[in-house]
Amino acid sequence: MERKSLKFILSLYKEHTFLFFLALIGSVLEAGALSGFVYILKNVIDDIFVEKNYNKLLFIITVLIVLAFFKQVGFFLKNYLYPVIILKIIKKLREKIYRNILNAEIGYINQLSVGEIVSRATNDIERFSVILSSLGTNVITESLTIIGIIGLLIYTDWKLFLIFVVVIPFLALVLNYFGEKRKKYGKLVQESLGDFTSHLNQVLTGLETVKLFKKDIFIRFFNRLNEKLFKREVKSRFYETVYLSSVEIIAYIGVVGIISYGGYRVIKGDLTTGQFFSFLGGILVLVNSMQILQRGLVNLKSITPIIERIQLLLNLPKEKGGDKVFNGLNREIVYKNVNLKIGERNILKDINLNIKKGEKLAIIGLSGAGKSSLVKLLPRLIKDYEGNIYLDDTELKEFDINSLREKFGMLSQDIFIFNDTVRNNLLIAKPDATDDEIISALKKAKADFILRLPDGLDTLLGERGSNLSGGERQRLAMARLFLKNPDILIIDEGTSALDVETEDKVVNEIVNSFKDKTVLMITHRLAIVDVMDRVIIMENGKITEDYKIEDFKRKNKNFTSLKIFTHNKD
Ligand SMILES: Nc1ncnc2c1ncn2[C@@H]1O[C@H](COP(=O)(O)OP(=O)(O)OP(=O)(O)O)[C@@H](O)[C@H]1O
Ligand SMILES: [Mg+2]
Repeated sequence: MERKSLKFILSLYKEHTFLFFLALIGSVLEAGALSGFVYILKNVIDDIFVEKNYNKLLFIITVLIVLAFFKQVGFFLKNYLYPVIILKIIKKLREKIYRNILNAEIGYINQLSVGEIVSRATNDIERFSVILSSLGTNVITESLTIIGIIGLLIYTDWKLFLIFVVVIPFLALVLNYFGEKRKKYGKLVQESLGDFTSHLNQVLTGLETVKLFKKDIFIRFFNRLNEKLFKREVKSRFYETVYLSSVEIIAYIGVVGIISYGGYRVIKGDLTTGQFFSFLGGILVLVNSMQILQRGLVNLKSITPIIERIQLLLNLPKEKGGDKVFNGLNREIVYKNVNLKIGERNILKDINLNIKKGEKLAIIGLSGAGKSSLVKLLPRLIKDYEGNIYLDDTELKEFDINSLREKFGMLSQDIFIFNDTVRNNLLIAKPDATDDEIISALKKAKADFILRLPDGLDTLLGERGSNLSGGERQRLAMARLFLKNPDILIIDEGTSALDVETEDKVVNEIVNSFKDKTVLMITHRLAIVDVMDRVIIMENGKITEDYKIEDFKRKNKNFTSLKIFTHNKD
């Protein structure tokens, strides 16, 4: 194991030294008791079978009971406490990772794939926990057992032990060679299983779409995955068997050697029968412990890459903002010579725009023109612009990001709904909202259909709101905004899934309810533009036109650029 991995593990264990110490006592008790059993075997044979002595029988039984007691106490301590320490560690890690994800730089998170993050946070954490558990239960305990037994064997008959020493390098070699192979294929099987589950996941989430395509293509793809998984499983099985049988062969050779030389010494009178069998028993325990230890060590070797994968999540770059608190807009939002590049592409070009407090601004333009990018700059969902954006007199970048976002409300097309009740889904907008407030918000968003559901606010929404229609989801998200009552409201085609009549009602409600608030509304529908104060048109990353609503309406009648409203529902 590498040094930095060890350092990381030690830092995790640091808080649990007492429990670790108790578990360690468990290991010592177990290893000691096991060595005791092997030792007492000599007396069992010599005193009971050979000498046939009653008093010694009683003594031996007492010793066996005491040993059994220590062994079980030790077993309990180590088997319960090592994993409990790990569980405590893992619980804390999970919490930290979740927090880190929530606080992470969005740009950075977007570069990683969601599957990648999820697999690190689940599979890798799970692997890490398994390996750490085996570090305690296997590596530490078995090392102690091996030390105890070897000491005992040398004490019983060091000459006989030399015979076994000759076998050890072969045993170690075989354990290592086939152990690694076995491990490698085990890992490949895991990988294939991962591909298999992720494919199933994808197909299941998109089942409606999948059904409309030719099934053969999916089946062929799937069969390839399945075939690969199968081959790896078979190989893994092969090495598993070879590993086990070669360990046995070597153990046989060792045992034969010991029986030959040991038998010779027993006949000669150098060794009692009891000592001989105790020795043999010790060898069997030793071989078993070495196998378990080897498995633990191979596992431990693979912990470094896993730690690295987890550490990425533990060290996610945090979002950085300024330290000024944003208390709401007083006069205006100003974009001054703003340019936005993502990679090589110029997404926004030389934007200059003043938005007055309380203004209701409609933003229209073709798909890909840069409308969403323009508004996402404000709550700092996109960060690296050039030029300046001012809220009143303060550059946006100087504000503390959390205080800034507190004053913003945003409704876009992808709506976040989590697998919980309607009430809990709404409370994220205002954790202390009363039911009355929630109901009023639902009514304003024309989402009061929810109140007529049998469970009302307690209705469970299912994963990603799957039991709601697109428009219902949008109205629910709108209700959140009424609850949050933000200072600046951004609606990015957030009402597009509603029927014309409902959309009009909701938009009118927005304009009325947020009378003094600033509203930026991206839309493809002319009728909505009508109730706003001002319209800007974007084209290819630039603001090309800027109208007061009266002028816009006047021009509207034979407005040629209106071709941009390709999605016009009217
Ligand atoms: N993260 C990104 N990386 C690279 N290019 C991006 C990214 N986000 C947006 N773009 C590109 O920036 C341009 C503007 O995107 P934007 O989402 O602002 O357009 P839009 O006007 O909102 O379009 P729509 O009406 O389809 O929502 C598009 O060409 C898009 O491909
Ligand atoms: Mg958009």
